[in-house]
Amino acid sequence: MRTKLVAGNWKMNTTPEEGQKLASEVVNMVKDELNREVQVVLAPPFTHLHQVSRLIGDAKHITLAAQNVSEHEKGAYTGEISVGMLKAVGVKWVILGHSERREYFKESNQQLAKKLDAVLAGGLQPIFCCGEPLEVREKEDQNGYVQRQLEESLFHLSEEQMRKVVIAYEPIWAIGTGKTASDEQAQEMHAHIRQQLAGKWGQNLANEIRILYGGSVKPDNAKNLFAKPDVDGGLVGGASLKSRDFMDIIKGAI
Ligand code: PGA
Repeated sequence: MRTKLVAGNWKMNTTPEEGQKLASEVVNMVKDELNREVQVVLAPPFTHLHQVSRLIGDAKHITLAAQNVSEHEKGAYTGEISVGMLKAVGVKWVILGHSERREYFKESNQQLAKKLDAVLAGGLQPIFCCGEPLEVREKEDQNGYVQRQLEESLFHLSEEQMRKVVIAYEPIWAIGTGKTASDEQAQEMHAHIRQQLAGKWGQNLANEIRILYGGSVKPDNAKNLFAKPDVDGGLVGGASLKSRDFMDIIKGAI
């Protein structure tokens, strides 16, 4: 059985005060309303990590993620943050390869392979994002496109390393657009991804890996998406900025 996971990606939103309020609301709601096994992950901006880490404390079910990390250990990389720095403030997960990082900061599959290595070597867990742009979906090339992303960034990992990875399928045309992939489109791609994992590492390992869906997940569509056999939770952007909405999405995973 794969434990469902719901992650909130705050992106570049909230002041530290707003972040503190949002995180404490989520921590309290999870404490009061979640009695089943669902993992909740909060990914605030770097500047809020320390404070959110303290707010989470030893709360059951909730852990902390960063939205990005450098592939380098330390040194002259102005503006970058290392795995060691994240660990020191209580981070457990790192979102890697979000489409916004790929598009605006030109992160390539090859660079992401290095970031994966750094994260895994440092003992953190990656949430690795993949997903196709609209023009690829229109040409019905999405399976090949996502397959290439997996091959070029993940396929060098050992079985043991791969066990630590969570994959997030986020079709770019559904991110922040209010346009969600249908439950069937999500299931179809998630099954395809799992098949690729099985081809590379075997069916047993493929069955263990969690594959999240991301792209306009909302309280009213979460339950049906998460009910699909290969959808193991969600990576939530906009709706994770409202504690009530985020909590209702989490409940969709129960
Ligand atoms: P969204 O973002 O939920 O606002 O569409 C999802 C994401 O980018 O992770």
